[in-house]
Amino acid sequence: MTTAVTAVVPASAIFTEAHTAYRFTEAPVTDAELAEIYDLAKFTPSAMNAQPLRITYLRTAEAKARLLPLLGGNNRDKSASAPVVAILAADTDFHQHLPVVNPQSAGAKDALAANEAHRVQMARNNAWLQAGGFILAVRAAGLDAGPMGGFDAAGVDAEFFAGTPLKSILIVNIGHVAEDGNFPRNPRLGFDQAVTLL
Ligand SMILES: Cc1cc2nc3c(=O)[nH]c(=O)nc-3n(C[C@H](O)[C@H](O)[C@H](O)COP(=O)(O)O)c2cc1C
Repeated sequence: MTTAVTAVVPASAIFTEAHTAYRFTEAPVTDAELAEIYDLAKFTPSAMNAQPLRITYLRTAEAKARLLPLLGGNNRDKSASAPVVAILAADTDFHQHLPVVNPQSAGAKDALAANEAHRVQMARNNAWLQAGGFILAVRAAGLDAGPMGGFDAAGVDAEFFAGTPLKSILIVNIGHVAEDGNFPRNPRLGFDQAVTLL
């Protein structure tokens, strides 16, 4: 599924005003919106354009019920209130797509096939990078995102990805934030603390 992404979103809606969401309204999230998120997120740069991020959207109560017991106790209510929950995973067999997504790098597919440790590290590093882009894409699509790392990754992999090369890295709750659905903003490090000018 593809959509035309036409909205112009101010930076404040993605960065300075946007907040992590912990509770959501009952307003639904459409499949067209889920497609729009991907059509934005897919442009996040990744090494060799390898794009190892895979997304599983849980849209029904039945699908979410398979995930909720695998979340940290404090995280269950957050996902339960979200109309859609995304499981972000790294495809450790991403190299199979390299001849198409990076035709200039002949030989990379076979080199990575022979080096599993490097391939898995590359899959995880670049899926994490794409996960950051995914969170911002949720916001750019006019929705709110609640990323959560507190879950049983081995359990999620067994429940959703058995027999596949996918490894879960992050859960992202998606919807429209409820009125009391944010925590107050915690301080960010200042320019002088995080940046070095040489
Ligand atoms: C990788 C990652 C893992 C996180 N894990 C959790 C989590 O398990 N539970 C939770 O409630 N919030 C989790 N958070 C939310 C962060 O605490 C939140 O994004 C951060 O404090 C910034 O909040 P703000 O957007 O309101 O400024 C996670 C965020 C990220 C990016």
